[in-house]
Amino acid sequence: MAKDWLHQQAELTLTRLIPRLTPYLASLSPSEQVLFFERLQTQTPIILSSLMTLYGSQYDFFYHLEQILITAMSYYVARSSELKALDQQREADRHWFQSEQMVGAMCYVDLFAGDLAGIADKIPYFEELGITYLHLMPLFRSPEANSDGGYAISSYREVDPRLGTTPQLADLASALRAKGISLVIDFVYNHTSDEHEWALKALAGDENYQDYYYMFPDRTLPDQYEPYLREIFPDQAPGSFTYMPQIERWVWTTFNSFQWDLNYRNPNVFREMLGELLFLANVGIEVLRFDAVAFTWKELGTSCENLPQAHTLIQAMYALAQVVAPALEFKSEAIVHPDEVVRYFGAGKECRISYHPLLMVLLWDALATRKVNMLYHAMEKRFTIHPDCAWVNYVRCHDDIGWGFADEDAGELGIHGYDHRQFLNAFYTGRFEGSFARGLPFNYNPVSGDARISGTAASLCGLESALEHDDPNEIAVAVRRILLIHSIIMSMGGLPLLYLNDEIGTLNDYSYENDPAKAADNRWMHRPTTDWERMEKRHDANTTEGRIYQGLRRLIQLRKSLPALGGQHTRFIPTDNPHVFAYMREHGQRVLVIANFSEQPQTVDERLLAIVGLSLNVVDLISEVAPTQTLAPYQFQWITKKI
Ligand code: GLC
Ligand code: GLC
Repeated sequence: MAKDWLHQQAELTLTRLIPRLTPYLASLSPSEQVLFFERLQTQTPIILSSLMTLYGSQYDFFYHLEQILITAMSYYVARSSELKALDQQREADRHWFQSEQMVGAMCYVDLFAGDLAGIADKIPYFEELGITYLHLMPLFRSPEANSDGGYAISSYREVDPRLGTTPQLADLASALRAKGISLVIDFVYNHTSDEHEWALKALAGDENYQDYYYMFPDRTLPDQYEPYLREIFPDQAPGSFTYMPQIERWVWTTFNSFQWDLNYRNPNVFREMLGELLFLANVGIEVLRFDAVAFTWKELGTSCENLPQAHTLIQAMYALAQVVAPALEFKSEAIVHPDEVVRYFGAGKECRISYHPLLMVLLWDALATRKVNMLYHAMEKRFTIHPDCAWVNYVRCHDDIGWGFADEDAGELGIHGYDHRQFLNAFYTGRFEGSFARGLPFNYNPVSGDARISGTAASLCGLESALEHDDPNEIAVAVRRILLIHSIIMSMGGLPLLYLNDEIGTLNDYSYENDPAKAADNRWMHRPTTDWERMEKRHDANTTEGRIYQGLRRLIQLRKSLPALGGQHTRFIPTDNPHVFAYMREHGQRVLVIANFSEQPQTVDERLLAIVGLSLNVVDLISEVAPTQTLAPYQFQWITKKI
């Protein structure tokens, strides 16, 4: 009933607006106009209901709605024919990002290749490695000194002049696409830098722009909000509000003091940010990583994270993007409780791609404990998602590792969440007796006792200490750990994402301590500058770099040759050995993955293969011989029928 009413309203609104919108489309061919209205019609119920939820109480709601639709349309008019062709291609293949052909990588433009021209020069390298999805870290104009690695954006349209120009970015997107690589960048839409034009106008006293942010004349409201808010950077940026003496206002700053949270209660902010989003779509970006999705809506008396309106906001943006640039996908960055992470998929109507922080932390948990009980239990319970969506599986990213497993899941296994996090922190900072890891605590919070971990994959896997001890056995074991966790992200279902440099086992880089703009933030130690001379060693299988690189590249090639590793069907298989993790991928053919998370040989029940229907005539694709019932330390097998 309610739906019918809404549908009617949507139709009515559209009928009323069409004559007003048509003149804007005059420059397009009749078929392009028809396509636009068809897509608009499909999305109207969502656009209307979501915008009504957010802004329906505004007296001039229909004016804003019209302005929003006009904004959307203007980007459709401006969209290139190359991208419009991509739109149609993606509409015909809505699950393209779930394919086994997809392999992602991420890097900072300056640290990896100097600038955008340097990235273009590295295309042959991406092809060699087998990358089809490239996430470039924030590359827009941002404050010169500390910009939180570019996450404080001063212009969403102007590439940081140190890195290149916006036309260059568009050319790069096309050049990558020509090689089958989708360009991904961040959409940092929760906040701007304090040097963004809107912030500068707000600082100059313009009330219109002060209303683009959350501003308070005194501490009354901040004091009411604050007790409910999580401290994101308790070390370097305590509190969630920053005083601006020029205008005598407190500004909401969830992250650093120079990152001002946008006020999405203001429909003008929505419209302007929609414009920025569609501008990026028209530059040729194929996936936008929605940064800090959890924080975009605030409500007194709540944690101001994961509120329903934060979802509605994305639904509205996604539906509008579907009209203008349906090739564009959204990826969410929600580093929150697993129940909340999954909600940002919005049943395929919000971010169809999401980081999978739970898998990431449980891989580290399994390495530390040598037990796969938490990993198995949580994946069995939570891995399955909406069929139109995909996890981004990663072992680490540019941020810290926060132990975001669910206390309930741990409790179901008799593990105490808080204590276990203390153990993991001790383990990964090398304080736990016998630990192989070299990490540092990130933002220790003395009140909650909480901390997260910084470190590169190799240093956390024991390569740093092994190299220091110059012990060939330890080195070999560390390499096996690195390949083991990567073998899981390559095969589990979803889109694997590598942090470039991990493919040659790059260690922590402590030189950030000498840079005053970085010294307070030890995440920089796992964001090393690429040493291209060292990269050359990847061709030499006698070096550690070469062993890791060649092992990883082989996994990538194998993945791409196995349709069973595409799609989202994963069945977790209990094993009788607490150190061995197993799952079955099935899509046409079957692949059984078995992985030993301990440095001891482990044996699995001989009936395991028979149980999954893979008893006769099978091969382990990794060793290229018949699978064995006993797995060597950290060994993994990808078992399938011989062809
Ligand atoms: C994101 C980024 C992180 C940044 C924060 C603020 O979560 O991954 O690096 O500090 O947002 O933009
Ligand atoms: C928190 C936030 C996440 C951010 C990270 C930065 O985990 O939830 O959005 O990237 O902190 O360290």
